[in-house]
Amino acid sequence: MAYETLIVDISDHIALIRLNRPEALNALNSTLLGELAQALTEADRNDKVRCIVLTGSEKAFAAGADIKEMADKGFVEMFQEDFFAPETEALLRVRKPIIAAVSGYALGGGCELAMMCDFIIASDTAKFGQPEINLGVVAGIGGTQRLTRFVGKSKAMDMHLTGRFMDAEEAERSGLVSRVVPAKKLMEETMAAAARIAEKSQITVKVVKEAVNRSYETTLREGLLFERRVFHMLFSTEDQKEGMSAFQEKRTAQFRDR
Ligand code: CAA
Repeated sequence: MAYETLIVDISDHIALIRLNRPEALNALNSTLLGELAQALTEADRNDKVRCIVLTGSEKAFAAGADIKEMADKGFVEMFQEDFFAPETEALLRVRKPIIAAVSGYALGGGCELAMMCDFIIASDTAKFGQPEINLGVVAGIGGTQRLTRFVGKSKAMDMHLTGRFMDAEEAERSGLVSRVVPAKKLMEETMAAAARIAEKSQITVKVVKEAVNRSYETTLREGLLFERRVFHMLFSTEDQKEGMSAFQEKRTAQFRDR
């Protein structure tokens, strides 16, 4: 399927989705968000895909929601469309892992999009920020909620109130990104991480994603119970038997996703 604002490539069980609006530093307009929701939904349904990588260009992962598209809208229109909700909900329904590979600017909605992925690998050129305050608005795709959970209240307040950018080193130190790699190695390292995930049992991979995400949605006690129950449940799979046999036989497990 050809898209106007995305380049999608599926090979070796990995769907690589590249945001492609270079003239606007990949600003998230409604076409891009709609296409992204569609591409992610299709990748999630495609049996050949076992992991998804979302990236932008060297200069920008995404410089935020499209300011030019939003500027003249009013409250009623924004509210009636429930602006951003349908597309972001589609992204959150994806059950396969999504890795964000971030180079350059990840600002406003771009930072929020990266945070909606399952983890972020950043190039040493990455810059994260929630500069909406400079536009007279607040983050609208989860920035006040997710950034606070990633980096804590003090740093989140600092970012949202001053609009300053955080470099890759600070982002790693603060827990926003899982690793920082040299810009030239960003895609190689990210694709290698995706390939490692693609080798695992896809049942277990989905359970891990659900269990970690559950930690954001529930109390510790309920989360621990959820984890224990899915741990027990996995003992009904062939992949658990294969994984534990392979360990004892000192060989690599051959998972069959059942
Ligand atoms: N929306 C629309 N267009 C954008 C854009 C955005 N968020 N960010 C950049 N562009 C456009 C610029 O207007 C410019 O287009 P023209 O050549 O037609 O003028 C082009 O992309 C290149 O940008 P710059 O010339 O500004 O590039 P730069 O290297 O000088 O600066 C930048 C880069 C610091 C990222 C700067 O572009 C910038 O500050 N962008 C806006 C960042 C921002 O405020 N993001 C938050 C948006 S609101 C939001 O996201 C709300 C939410 O939470 C959902």
